[in-house]
Amino acid sequence: MILIDGKKIAAEIRDELKKEISELKKKKNLVPGLTVILIGDLAPSQIYVRMKEKAAIEVGLKSEIIKFPKDIDEKIVLDKIDELNNDSLISGILVQLPLPKHIDKKKVIERISPLKDVDGFHPVNVGNLSSGYKSIIPCTPLGCYLLIKKYEQNLNGKKAVVIGRSNLNGKPMTQLLLRENCTVTITHSKTKDLKAECSEADIIVAAAGIPELVRGDWVKKDAIVIDVGINKTDKGIVGDVAFDEVSKFAKALTPVPGGVGPMTIACLLKNTVECFKNLLK
Ligand code: GUN
Repeated sequence: MILIDGKKIAAEIRDELKKEISELKKKKNLVPGLTVILIGDLAPSQIYVRMKEKAAIEVGLKSEIIKFPKDIDEKIVLDKIDELNNDSLISGILVQLPLPKHIDKKKVIERISPLKDVDGFHPVNVGNLSSGYKSIIPCTPLGCYLLIKKYEQNLNGKKAVVIGRSNLNGKPMTQLLLRENCTVTITHSKTKDLKAECSEADIIVAAAGIPELVRGDWVKKDAIVIDVGINKTDKGIVGDVAFDEVSKFAKALTPVPGGVGPMTIACLLKNTVECFKNLLK
């Protein structure tokens, strides 16, 4: 079984970006800038945002975190997004999710310029991806896709099962696999027989948020299994895949941590550089 080393592959992406950013600086005398808006004090969000900032600075991006208290007025957030949209030194804007209940997530996502939408969540980017136009692709599914492609270049006709239908992961993941001519089944909490669906799959992407949901006897021999889950349990952080069981069947499997997580951050940096280049056009 191949242990898919997301940490190593993410480091390679960051190295390439570092070179590209340094070239851009020499040629254009400009550095891409990423601004992250963090609302409230949720511990996981604070940790993720800090990790994103650290990674951004390490590759040579400009990075800024704007923090708002959890009871901030929605209008102040929307006005800040307008200001960042109009700031030519900012290439990428990310509003960390989840948001406090009184703030309308859809309004926030729609307010970010699609050209600066490093998350790829704006309906324009979502539509572009699903229609086969060039678009910014959400970071986690993009990271999963790059990991799959590293081990399986030709995905033509492969059967893929995506577990989870979120806008962040499941839906864009499905589009990416479809684009590669996979036969994709998108499953979710109402799916009748998830085990039966998975047992047919050449590729499984598990993004359900349920600890160790995917068991060894769900997985076809030589399947590629990508685990997006990060679940806090009594025995520590575990993924959506029962790692020890599934490793006996899968051809390649991502660990948690050290699989998809580092790829999400590397892809955020990649998207920031891409937005920067698109804005120069
Ligand atoms: N919260 C958890 N994952 C993400 C992500 O990819 N982007 C944003 N903006 N918030 C998140």
